Amino acid sequence: MSTARLPTVLVVHGPNLNLLGRRELDVYGPLTLAEVDDRIRAEAAELGLAVDIHQTAREGAIVELLHDGVDRVAGAVVNPAAYSHTSRAIADAMRAVPYPVIEVHLSNIHAREPWRHVSVTAEAATALIAGLGALSYTLALRALQAMIGG
Ligand code: DQA
Repeated sequence: MSTARLPTVLVVHGPNLNLLGRRELDVYGPLTLAEVDDRIRAEAAELGLAVDIHQTAREGAIVELLHDGVDRVAGAVVNPAAYSHTSRAIADAMRAVPYPVIEVHLSNIHAREPWRHVSVTAEAATALIAGLGALSYTLALRALQAMIGG
């Protein structure tokens, strides 16, 4: 089916998430990023959403992807990864854009090391879903679909 007229959701994976499936399997599980993206695409197709998926290790690139979404996307799902705990720039970009941004984490950041308990980006996000593995992303898509229609 053509996705030309469907609302588009921006999906951004931050640093080190390209190594999923090989990285700390006990924490992040066995799925590769490509497999997570397959689940995201399948869920989006069911929900009547188009997805624009990116992975980057660079903080500024995440800021720019959020900016590029203005006038183009209906919402965003962002896993800022370690930048969640430090990046005021990504937090301000989330505040600056007019569309809802759902922050997701594969792991439950509140059940891990104390430095992960604070997410400065989640303070700016519309909502936060953490600890459900790939389901964090697909539930975020469902929430956005409920918010924006699809
Ligand atoms: C993560 C949690 C972060 O603390 C960590 O730096 C990551 C992944 C998650 O998805 O669980 O890289 O965002």
